[in-house]
Amino acid sequence: MLGPVDTIRWEGGRDGRLSLLEQTRLPAETIYTKIGTVDELVAAIRRLAVRGAPAIGVAAAYGVMVGLRGAEECDPETLRARVREIAGTLAKSRPTAVNLFYGLDRMVARAERELAAGASSPATLDALLDEAHTIAREDAATCDRLGEVGAELLSSGMTVLTHCNAGALATAGRGTALAPVYHATEHGMKIAVYADETRPLLQGARLTAWELARADIDVTLLTDSAAGSALASGVIDAVFVGADRIARNGDVCNKIGTYSVAILARANEIPFYVVAPLSTFDPELRDGSEIPIEQRPAEEVTEGFGPRTAPDGIRVYNPAFDVTPAALVTAIVTEQGLVREPNLTRVEEVLRRGGRI
Ligand code: MRU
Repeated sequence: MLGPVDTIRWEGGRDGRLSLLEQTRLPAETIYTKIGTVDELVAAIRRLAVRGAPAIGVAAAYGVMVGLRGAEECDPETLRARVREIAGTLAKSRPTAVNLFYGLDRMVARAERELAAGASSPATLDALLDEAHTIAREDAATCDRLGEVGAELLSSGMTVLTHCNAGALATAGRGTALAPVYHATEHGMKIAVYADETRPLLQGARLTAWELARADIDVTLLTDSAAGSALASGVIDAVFVGADRIARNGDVCNKIGTYSVAILARANEIPFYVVAPLSTFDPELRDGSEIPIEQRPAEEVTEGFGPRTAPDGIRVYNPAFDVTPAALVTAIVTEQGLVREPNLTRVEEVLRRGGRI
């Protein structure tokens, strides 16, 4: 099995270079895009060159370093203001995945701590690079832990259905929803995956199918519309998906189409598991109705990959995410263990254990 993909690269010290595996070009080409400015990173996040909740958070943390290039000369007040301004700009790139704000908040808090303790500007920049590396390392370690915990739900011979891409390409490690599959496979189990193609941008077809095939995992691609048929046919044993934001009551926001899969899983009595790090929970939000849902351009639906497939001028509904009510979730897999039949009390309990509240 090939090792995890290098989704985000930082080369060098505090004046180093950020490059991203250009996910818009997969699976045809494996190329890296160099990010020279904060605006370039905002554009890369918007066009989904880097995507997936944890990966966006890690990329944004390094993005703060991109914006601070040459800031050694700044006085502490100017540096503090610059960090806040860069974080504010990056925070506007995409609205739904809470890991973006988690990563940026940690960078801002680290800068404040260092400067309040009297650190020089160069020392603060070193500390910020250390924070970005730590966020990336923690994400990778958390993915491994999610793999271990989630693999307890698997046994050899099972087939799981997944939606979108919640694998290595969506994190700085081996993924969230796909981590249990990687873990179980490494421990000798045979696990097969059905990957929804995930309209309109085909993260399932372009990314999940690519990374699983590359890892020699038995993967079958299906259209989103075929998910009901697959779930009713008896071929699927469980659904594993990731999340972009989870509210305090356990409502789960993930890629558009996840809610339909959850309903279909429930109707066919198939367990529906969400795999997510605690950094994907938003303790500020009481329930899923408060989660901001990104609306994407109409062209993604009418001419996503070339020729127009809809009439000129047609009105389009293109939300990037939907919310699956907690009542449809069999369990949430976190690095702190399983949250079965999630609700307010159980989510608060795991968040407390993980120090998030
Ligand atoms: O629009 P995307 O590709 O960023 O959406 C990604 C998803 O919905 C993933 O399922 C989610 O971020 C979990 S990634 C570990």
